[in-house]
Amino acid sequence: MESPPSQSVSNLIQLRSSWRSCTGQAIAADKLKLLDNYVNSKTEGIGGDKVRFELVAARAEDSEELRGLGTYGFIRGASGFIVGAVDKQIDNLEDYGYLMEDIILFATGLGLATCWLGGSFRKDNFSSRINIQPHEIVPAVVSVGLPADNRNVIDRIIRNVAGSKNRKEWETLFFESDFQTPLKRESAGKYAQVLDMVRLSPSASNKQPWRYALDENQVHLFLQRTPGYRKPNFFCDLQRIDMGISMYHFDSVCKELNVGGQWTNQKLSSTFPKNWEYIISWDAD
Ligand SMILES: Cc1cc2nc3c(=O)[nH]c(=O)nc-3n(C[C@H](O)[C@H](O)[C@H](O)COP(=O)(O)O)c2cc1C
Repeated sequence: MESPPSQSVSNLIQLRSSWRSCTGQAIAADKLKLLDNYVNSKTEGIGGDKVRFELVAARAEDSEELRGLGTYGFIRGASGFIVGAVDKQIDNLEDYGYLMEDIILFATGLGLATCWLGGSFRKDNFSSRINIQPHEIVPAVVSVGLPADNRNVIDRIIRNVAGSKNRKEWETLFFESDFQTPLKRESAGKYAQVLDMVRLSPSASNKQPWRYALDENQVHLFLQRTPGYRKPNFFCDLQRIDMGISMYHFDSVCKELNVGGQWTNQKLSSTFPKNWEYIISWDAD
């Protein structure tokens, strides 16, 4: 197989959904090689911090071992997992989300099924598969496989519980420069389609904790935490991974639409709602 037919990132974003029901068959060698090369090429986040990813257990002879990797039965018939490690000392969970989502959309373009796993996977098994170092953690993994024609019962139950099909209304996610007035789509100008695609981002338990505020020449990203959601020492801070995922949707669609700009830390403080945490800003060209 040649390189995958190029599809616009907006198409891939609309095509992707978490798919937990796979056939168990091995991914064709040529597709696998493309994916493996892509996974290995993602080594540096937006801030320049190192992240490493590996595609594990995706070969036919691995299938027995693969079953032992452990997803508590949430994922059926995956033929591989994308596993990454980050340095605990460097605060780079956004980078992890950003780079992994880039990989997921590439896999989507290859016709593969994927699902983020932040809670329902056995950390010890995955950590040993990528030879984790004492200073590193595996924050989350992604299953990959050939999609079954239909979602199985477990998949359908999880989607129902998380309300995966739904997204919050535009006006509750996006705001004007005063951080309070809901942003109307018709006032978002060149960012309207960009924010449409941000809204389709996957997030842990579909909590959608991203809040974007449109300033004159900047777009600021904040995290509105879901009360009681963070469970330190058990899960990592999954909502910061969610931030990185939405950043990938934001800037890849900006590139597609020729909306120039770059991420900068404006160190905003205090002028925004108390239950928001400032993450980063998009500085328009
Ligand atoms: C960081 C992160 C962690 C997730 N962890 C799990 C998980 O442990 N188990 C699971 O079945 N789905 C998990 N999901 C998938 C979400 O439930 C899913 O993205 C959300 O319900 C929206 O559905 P969609 O991806 O089909 O658009 C996770 C998603 C993200 C972004």
